[in-house]
Amino acid sequence: MPAEIHPLLAAALAARDNAHAPFSNFRVGAALEDDSGRVHTGCNVENATYGLTLCAERVAVFKAVSEGARKFRRIAVAADTDVLTPPCGACRQILWEFCGDVELILGNPRGRSETLRLKDLFPRAFDASFL
Ligand code: THU
Repeated sequence: MPAEIHPLLAAALAARDNAHAPFSNFRVGAALEDDSGRVHTGCNVENATYGLTLCAERVAVFKAVSEGARKFRRIAVAADTDVLTPPCGACRQILWEFCGDVELILGNPRGRSETLRLKDLFPRAFDASFL
């Protein structure tokens, strides 16, 4: 358990409070730091048709890109699970394309956290270099 919470994880935990998750009740927050230090947050936004749901990570990435950010340092993802919640497969693809082998901080509201790199979760990715 870290003595102090990483500020980016604190931002992800705060973003989680805005989650719109009436169907799963599984609330997720994300905070993405760009290369200027600006933090772009996201939460999961669910939809009654389920399949249109957007994960917190993709909301954070798309918000950031829509505001002109193109290079990223790290992303924090927060959910209330003991085994820390990692990004889903679709989000790993999006994160790889926009952030590359970015630092990933996973955490929960009880002070548990872990830092890893996207490549550890998403080896041998398909991306534009193959096109
Ligand atoms: N979810 C995320 O927002 N990020 C993840 O990393 C895992 C899953 C959301 C999608 C859905 O709203 C809910 O969690 C349950 O899958």
